[in-house]
Amino acid sequence: MSAIKSGGPIKGIDACNDQAAKIALANSSKQIILGRSSHKLRNPENAPEKWLVEPIKLFASGKQSQPQLLKIDDEHQGFIEPIKIQAPCLTCHGTEIAKPISEKLTQVYPEDQATGFQLNDFRGIFWVKIKK
Ligand code: HEC
Repeated sequence: MSAIKSGGPIKGIDACNDQAAKIALANSSKQIILGRSSHKLRNPENAPEKWLVEPIKLFASGKQSQPQLLKIDDEHQGFIEPIKIQAPCLTCHGTEIAKPISEKLTQVYPEDQATGFQLNDFRGIFWVKIKK
């Protein structure tokens, strides 16, 4: 997020894009992989794996709100945690997004669905998949 401070939200979009993938890779091994996903995706590469689809629906409908440990299959265990919209997130995920930002978002993410959120809305999840 330091790029957001030094370069403003436009640089932040590039940072969020490049660095999120690098951070995910750097922290992933054969034993543990992790990432973010959502019911309203910005980056299609964050599309949920099958085991995440139902849990995301439960969070989005408000039926579930707590982090959870899940059994994925005989070899894998999962951990998921909901992510809520905080005030700084509205710059890029809110209802009134400044034109230079929305133009950049449309350019990088032509299928962006991750706008129109309000404070405290469920935005998506952080997930971890662990090989036993
Ligand atoms: C500077 C603009 C910007 C800000 C501020 C921002 N985001 Fe994002 N967000 C993005 C971009 C760009 C992506 C796509 C990143 C990628 O390629 O994985 C993204 C992706 C995500 C994703 C992954 C799922 C998806 O839709 O691809 C989540 C979850 C998310 N943001 C939550 C948040 C939350 C919560 C905050 C506030 C704490 C926040 N974002 C603040 C620009 C921003």
